[in-house]
This record gives sequence, C-alpha cells and structure tokens, in this order.
Amino acid sequence: MKTEKSSSRVDVRTGKLSGEGVVSSVRTLGQTGGLFSDKAALSAADPDTVVYSVESHEATEAGTRGGLFFGTSTVKPGRVGDEYFMTKGHFHSRIECAEYYWGISGRGVLLLMDESGSCRAEEVTEGSLHYIPGGVAHRLINTGEVDLVVGACWPSDAGHDYAAIADRGFPVRLVCRDGEPFFEEAAR
Ligand SMILES: [Fe+2]
Repeated sequence: MKTEKSSSRVDVRTGKLSGEGVVSSVRTLGQTGGLFSDKAALSAADPDTVVYSVESHEATEAGTRGGLFFGTSTVKPGRVGDEYFMTKGHFHSRIECAEYYWGISGRGVLLLMDESGSCRAEEVTEGSLHYIPGGVAHRLINTGEVDLVVGACWPSDAGHDYAAIADRGFPVRLVCRDGEPFFEEAAR
C-alpha cells in the first residue's frame, strides 16, 4: 500500500481552500440588500459590493446522509447605514442538524435564534469555537475593520432554509452606536 497526498488543501492560518471538490459563492449587496433596514443607505450603495463569500469542500453530493461538508466564510467589513455587514442566516432544512463554526481571523458576532425566536449571541475571534445545535438559526456579523473569516463543518444533508429567516427575520439587529456594536430590536 502506498500513502497518497490528499488532492485538497486547507491553509490552516487563513482557511483558504484549494484543490479538488472546492466550490465558492459570493453574495453582493444587490443580492442581500433586503437584509438591511436602512433602504436609503442601501440605494446609495454600489449593489456589486461584496458582503460575504463562502468556499466549501464538497467531497460528496448535497443531501448525502452521513456525509460532511467543510467550508470557510468571509464576511467583509462594512455597514449599510449603521447596520454591520452580515450573512443572510439560516436554519438547516433538516432542522435537527448541528454545525461547528470556528473563528480564523477578524472580529464579529455569531447571532443564534431558536425556533421560538429567542436569540443569543457569541463573540467570534481568532480561535473561538462555536457549537450550533440543531434547531438553531445562525448568522455571522462582522463588527471589525477587516475581513471576518470563519471555518465551518456541517452535515451534507443539512441543507439551508433561508425562507424562514426571510419571512420572520431575526428579532434583533446589530448596529454601530458611538463606534460600538449595539443590539436593537428589529422593526417588524
Ligand atoms: Fe448552517
């Protein structure tokens, strides 16, 4: 038997993925603008501005029972009005599926919401480890001045349910007030 080199790599310092099975996607303000509450600030911003990107290593088909996906999300620094750049956020389609996140670089917040709408938030920094249980929606928010880079590992049959968030939203939004992150109630 011969030892082989893996055809895929992760740069452990930056989270950058390369090689076979790596797919990537980018979300711009034009695609995610509905997330932000300040519509005047949104219309004044360039819709091609990148809000976040995701690279993932998908060695199996989406929906494969028992498989795993591995990825790196990068949320850009920036705000729409006073609201920090963030990911759309999602429950998993198979709602019982959990996920790990870990902070690689930058500074931000992991906003978590259970099915009853109850929220909590964890600080994300280099080396912070976050277990997201099943039944909990998750959103990353960049509160810093540089990219927020976060690693993730989740079941390949978890899926993403964005509709529940689009319908209901998170009950809080994170804004910059006097230079500091501050949670305020989201208007319904
Ligand atoms: Fe997830």
